[in-house]
Amino acid sequence: MLTVRVGCKGREAAYHLGTLCSFRSHVACLSSSKITLGREKQTETPLRSPVWSCNEWDPLEEIIVGRVEGAHVPPFTEEVQAITVKRNWDFFKYRGGQPYPAAHLAKAAAEIETFCNILEQEGVTVRRPAIVDHSIEYKTPDFRSTGMHAAMPRDILLVIGDEIIEAPMAWRSRFFEYRAYRPLIKEYFQKGARWTTAPKPQMSDELYDKNYPDENDPNRHKITDQAKFVTTEFEPCFDAADFMRAGRDIFAQRSQVTNYSGIEWLKRHLGDKYNIHCLSFENGNPMHIDATLFIIAPGVVLSNPERTCHQIDMFKKAGWTVVYPPYPVIPDSHPLWMSSKWLSMNVLMLDTKRVICDVDEIPTVKMFEKLGIKPITLSIRHANSLGGGFHCWTTDIRRRGKMESYL
Ligand code: ARG
Repeated sequence: MLTVRVGCKGREAAYHLGTLCSFRSHVACLSSSKITLGREKQTETPLRSPVWSCNEWDPLEEIIVGRVEGAHVPPFTEEVQAITVKRNWDFFKYRGGQPYPAAHLAKAAAEIETFCNILEQEGVTVRRPAIVDHSIEYKTPDFRSTGMHAAMPRDILLVIGDEIIEAPMAWRSRFFEYRAYRPLIKEYFQKGARWTTAPKPQMSDELYDKNYPDENDPNRHKITDQAKFVTTEFEPCFDAADFMRAGRDIFAQRSQVTNYSGIEWLKRHLGDKYNIHCLSFENGNPMHIDATLFIIAPGVVLSNPERTCHQIDMFKKAGWTVVYPPYPVIPDSHPLWMSSKWLSMNVLMLDTKRVICDVDEIPTVKMFEKLGIKPITLSIRHANSLGGGFHCWTTDIRRRGKMESYL
């Protein structure tokens, strides 16, 4: 007889027992650990984890697409100022803590709906984060802030095989961003995924360099070349989007939001089976690697021609093809509050033969055609304004394929 005390009665108790039992059988098939509940017969039906993604190009089956709803402008703190260009400062100063302009958000929301429909038409299951109130002010012993959005799942969720890792983040306005994804993550966990949350940073003043020179400083390149960033090494921090996955090889960059101890934490967490390669670029403002270096197929890497990769020979020596994508064509007049124009190379591979890319970035579209990859095009320009392209707006949940080494 199965006897488990779950502290509740009737239907609710039955529910708890149901989830516990199925939870047990997933654990049993995913690892050697077992939870034994009384003398209940052990069912060993192996259930596959709903989460499995090893790289950026294997055939895509399920994805999370971010949300426009409720997006708020982050308070204009030093870590935000460090990555924004001067012409946007007034926008942040006056709007920090407020919603983004409603008319702009409405257009962005419509674009993202179209994006979801196209993904579904291509046979991909689309999941969405919950709508949460990002305007609520929160306070910890170390800081206070309001939130930002749940628009860029790529920034916060790192999927390595069957494990979802919630990144610690580095911006105070993103401290609680994981909450929007918890309903989905709990569901994936119950169905067999592994779930890790990296150590939450304190985000006290020591994590930030208050005197960090702003984006417009002509010496910014030199400053980042000397490995000086707005985040210090006070404690580990990282955003998931500073990692580009190629099976057992993962490429990382020290950026304004990812510090060396954050990279080291991930390295130790993943262990010897993975190689984390720390790359650096000629880039005065590194934040999220996916508009700088993008791996589109086994042995094929897009390398931003304006941001020379100091370790590019490593790829060439391994026989990889390095492709330099064309310059973006988005006009200066279009607001990009949080990023450069290089979102043009921030594409989403559905597999090695199909790519989602911007309909107006004709040179990039042509580049893919030349490479024998079919571009599926649309515009998410208003959604781009919030800081990301197709890759940033999504995170893979499942791609068919194996965990392999490519270097
Ligand atoms: N910071 C990059 C740039 O300005 C954009 C990266 C966007 N990626 C992301 N995952 N949010 O070029």
